[in-house]
Order: sequence, then structure tokens, then C-alpha cells
Amino acid sequence: MTEFIALIPAAGSGSRMGEAVPKQYRPLAGKPMIYHALRTLCSTDRIGTVCVVLAPDDKEWVRHDWDEFSGKIRIFNCGGATRAESVTNGLKALRAANCVQDQDWILVHDAARPGLSHALTERLLDQLAEDEVGGLLAVPLADTLKRADDTDRVVRTESRERLWQAQTPQMFRAKLLLEALEKAPASITDDASAVEALGFSPRLVMGDAYNFKVTYPQDLKLAELVLQARCNTKRIS
Ligand code: CTP
Ligand code: MG
Repeated sequence: MTEFIALIPAAGSGSRMGEAVPKQYRPLAGKPMIYHALRTLCSTDRIGTVCVVLAPDDKEWVRHDWDEFSGKIRIFNCGGATRAESVTNGLKALRAANCVQDQDWILVHDAARPGLSHALTERLLDQLAEDEVGGLLAVPLADTLKRADDTDRVVRTESRERLWQAQTPQMFRAKLLLEALEKAPASITDDASAVEALGFSPRLVMGDAYNFKVTYPQDLKLAELVLQARCNTKRIS
């Protein structure tokens, strides 16, 4: 039977956040940032395994208690120099551990997107489980787009028609994803681009604004608000 496996690349250094501790461990709503995505993915029944890819020299993971996820998570200290390398190494580690078959679905999700909800995860699974290629969560662009010259003067206004912002999870079959990432140019910043480079057209599934990537210090407050609001909603309902 085809399985759903989540893979969280968490081997980055968070250079744009500018803190000593990598951002995936930064406290948010009382927990390390990565905890929130882990909780959503581990508590999604259809997902059987959640694989976390850490940097080989990670010193933070062991400082926290992950017991509540022990039935589902697999940890691999095989992160690479880029996100794509970390995902590739994670897929190879899963294969070496006999945890994945070629046709299993892999949901790659950034540790730095703590706002992923259950509803979005379920929507992605529902819409792509029978898809030929796979796809990703994304949101249509809302703002007007300006093309600039090298002095920050507007050259022209670009059409935003049919432009989407990619999010994660991005969901592809294990064999296709590994082949795509191994052949991909070094410049890619997500999994779908690697699959596109092989000539496939991943499907876009509607995400939401809460699933943004925490990148800069100013993103932290917003992430905190999203997580707290979710906690409060759960308490009321
Ligand atoms: N990531 C990874 N291995 C890398 C680089 C990134 O596993 N060599 C992971 C990050 O930990 C994060 C996700 O990929 O969960 C998205 O990357 P990004 O937001 O760019 O995180 P960082 O690379 O850590 O941040 P920065 O680019 O600011 O250094
Ligand atoms: Mg990065």
C-alpha cells in the first residue's frame, strides 16, 4: 500500500534571522519552532512516518523532549549545504533504513513554517493522493508587482495574473522526487522546481496566509500571534 511520509528539512542555520541558535529551535508559543509543524504532521492519521533531517553537528535537538512524537518520528543527522541537499540526503537515509517504497508519497515541509494547520494538510492529501505528478500548497499573489532596475526605480508593473507563491508541504512520489533533486540545478529553492525541470507540471493546491515561512526577525511576532490564536480557538471549541 502507498504510504504518506512527511520529511522536514531542519538543517539550516537561519542566517537571515541573525541569531546564534538556528531559527527552527527558536521559542514560539512556548515551544521550539519546529515543534508546531511536527505536531500537525504527527497528528495527521494518514501520515505514517515523519522524518526530520538535522545538521550533522546539530546540538539543539537533544536539548528538548520529543517523547510525544516517538511513535512516528525518525531522526537523521544527514543535512547538507542546501535545502535540496538536505531533502535528498533524507530521502536516501529513509531508503537505506527500508522506510520508503518508490511510489510512497513524500510531503516535504519546512521546519520554518509553524503555521501549517491540519485542515491544509488534509486538503493537500485529499487533492493530490490520486494525482499523476503531485504538487504543493501555494497562494495566489495579492500585491501589485513592480520590476526594479539596479537603483530601485520601477521599470514596469508586472501582471500578477496566475502567479502563485509556493509554500510547503510539497508532495511527490519518493522515486520521482529523488531523481528530480539529484538532477536539479543548484539554484533551486523548492522541491517542485526540481520536478518541473524534469518536464512535469505539479498541481497547485490552495494554501493560506498563516502558513508563511518565518525568515526575518519581524516574522516572529506574526508567527506567535498565529499560534496563540490557534491555541485560543482550540480552548474555546
Ligand atoms: N534547510 C535545510 N538544510 C539547509 C538549508 C535549509 O534543511 N542546508 C531547511 C531549513 O532548516 C528550513 C527550510 O530548509 O526548515 C527552509 O529554509 P530557509 O527558510 O531558507 O532556512 P535557513 O536556510 O535556515 O535560513 P536562511 O536562508 O536565512 O539561512
Ligand atoms: Mg535558506
